[in-house]
Amino acid sequence: MKRLVILISGRGSNMEAIVKACAAEGWPASIAAVISNRPDAGGLQFAAERGIATAVVDHKAYASRDDFDAELARIIDSFSPDLVVLAGFMRILTPAFTARYERRLLNIHPSLLPAFTGLHTHERALAMGCKVAGATVHFVTAELDHGAIVMQGVVPVQPGDDAKTLAGRVLTAEHRIYPQSVRWFVEDALVWVGDTVQHRDGAAQQLLLS
Ligand code: GAR
Repeated sequence: MKRLVILISGRGSNMEAIVKACAAEGWPASIAAVISNRPDAGGLQFAAERGIATAVVDHKAYASRDDFDAELARIIDSFSPDLVVLAGFMRILTPAFTARYERRLLNIHPSLLPAFTGLHTHERALAMGCKVAGATVHFVTAELDHGAIVMQGVVPVQPGDDAKTLAGRVLTAEHRIYPQSVRWFVEDALVWVGDTVQHRDGAAQQLLLS
């Protein structure tokens, strides 16, 4: 049984998708805790209602990123996770933190990386006239929104889209590719090939939605 700790900052719909898939599909995993950097994160209630341990490490209470990350790591480690899952966790992490969880820290980013790292991905994709958009699950390294890609979900950009409609379509893909990626991790189905990650049996690491 693998132990998962999921970090959120807000609504937590990706966390919810992972928790539900873990239970419904009987993964060899348990959700050890859901941790938020914001006390008002909506997802905390969902986790608590499911009987999952919750914790808040409020970044505003710490003088520096180093102090915040050190306390965050202390709380995470108290749950002895095999994998830490960033699910809409909106904090930049220090190199010491990312090194501590090397190859056991996943993130989802709402763009087709390496395009559009950082914020406002949908606005920027629309401003560029992109014809497809999507989301990426990747292992986290010290460099923001880089690291080995586990899975990507691609959706069309439709005429008349605004950032909200595009975000909604991308989120549908997120809710498919993030549970799938975490499941592969807990099933030991991911293999490192140099700095890239492949599925052990060659399963498709992309989801194309039309
Ligand atoms: C998701 O769209 C996720 O991809 C994004 O925040 C949203 C969180 O939604 N993450 C980032 O932008 C990370 N840089 P959720 O709280 O409902 O899962």
